[in-house]
Amino acid sequence: MRMYDLIVKKRNGGFLRPEEIRYMVEEYTRGNIPDYQMSAMMMAIYFRGMNEEETLELTLAMEQSGEILDLSGIRGIKVDKHSTGGVGDKTSLALAPMVASCGVPVAKMSGRGLGHTGGTIDKLESFPGFTTELTPDCFMENVNRIGIAIMGQSAKLAPADKKLYALRDVTGTVDNMSLIASSIMSKKLASGADAIVLDVKTGSGAFMKKEEDAYALAREMVRIGKGAGKRMAAVISDMDQPLGYAVGNALEVKEAIATLKGEGPADFMELCLTLGSQMLLAGGKAEDEARAKELLQQVLRDGRALKKLAEFVEAQGGDSAAVYDESLLPKADYEEPCLSVKEGYVSRIDCEEVGICSLLLGGGRETKESVIDLSVGIVLLKKKGDYVKRGEALALLYANDREKLRNALTRLLGAYELSDEKPGPVPLIKGILR
Ligand code: URA
Repeated sequence: MRMYDLIVKKRNGGFLRPEEIRYMVEEYTRGNIPDYQMSAMMMAIYFRGMNEEETLELTLAMEQSGEILDLSGIRGIKVDKHSTGGVGDKTSLALAPMVASCGVPVAKMSGRGLGHTGGTIDKLESFPGFTTELTPDCFMENVNRIGIAIMGQSAKLAPADKKLYALRDVTGTVDNMSLIASSIMSKKLASGADAIVLDVKTGSGAFMKKEEDAYALAREMVRIGKGAGKRMAAVISDMDQPLGYAVGNALEVKEAIATLKGEGPADFMELCLTLGSQMLLAGGKAEDEARAKELLQQVLRDGRALKKLAEFVEAQGGDSAAVYDESLLPKADYEEPCLSVKEGYVSRIDCEEVGICSLLLGGGRETKESVIDLSVGIVLLKKKGDYVKRGEALALLYANDREKLRNALTRLLGAYELSDEKPGPVPLIKGILR
């Protein structure tokens, strides 16, 4: 087999056979196919697409390119949750303790933030001492003992995807449905859970700006997961404005803690209850969504979910006192309001811009090597549909550097659009696929 022939076949609109896809993935991972040939193939796929069989085969080949976690040592149905990424998306921080308190084991691989979106691991590191570098034995022991463990994505898992994703990132070939679906699902399948609940975001802060594209991606991933024998559900949710109010690592941790105390933002709570009920259904802990929501609300009311967060933080080396005392979390030196120069209803917030403002303050990574400042970020005071007077604060910015603060303030102001007419409500949950 020659890579050259496969590139020409795809360029001309042909379909790759399973053994051709295997060959390409295996030899590329081994370093026997050069980046320039794989780049040409990615571009050919970008323009010609892949059919369902090709996409499934690509996913499985990438899944099997490295280690596959064996979680059989964990009792019960292991449920994983994955978000396609967003701004202010602190969902796992509240959701994992909620679901674990209801008896569904959460054995989760998480990533760090890159670009305008945040990552769960960075957020968790706001707890002094917290680590996600667990051995597989410790990971499983923690899930069996307290019901949750979160580990960093091992480089040994789906190495083909790691290499390919880095290549796609610099060759303009990221935003292709088959390539995104196979990339995400190869890592999820290699992580060994029995059931996977996906949160596919859509809107100005998401990968999939258009709702129909988010649906198509969700459908593709559900199909792949089922094809690989997993229980699957996908929630399509709004990311046209940040989730909740807080954007930035420690600020988001505080908001997640408030949510576990029943004092969180309504949209964030709705998303946690929706994803949580899908996880409880997949984990066999509830017979229908209404019962699942009741169970989740119960563990919030009686404080079990908050206690579970503290146990989880403690088990991974963190200072669990910070769950009950916010002053132990990182805190920025400056707090400055972003004042509106007009009055009217907030009609649009460019969500990606808000993520970039947090990044500019130091809360995100511009490159993989960047060191992030956990204390900085933004707390929105106004969201879509809210009325704002001239001179009133749209948001509060938290910073440790005056120059960065000035840049972020100007940019955040530009992210808000105001109008005389009150915009209609935007549903947070667009749909659920199974
Ligand atoms: N996230 C991934 O893991 N892979 C993609 O291709 C896009 C987003």
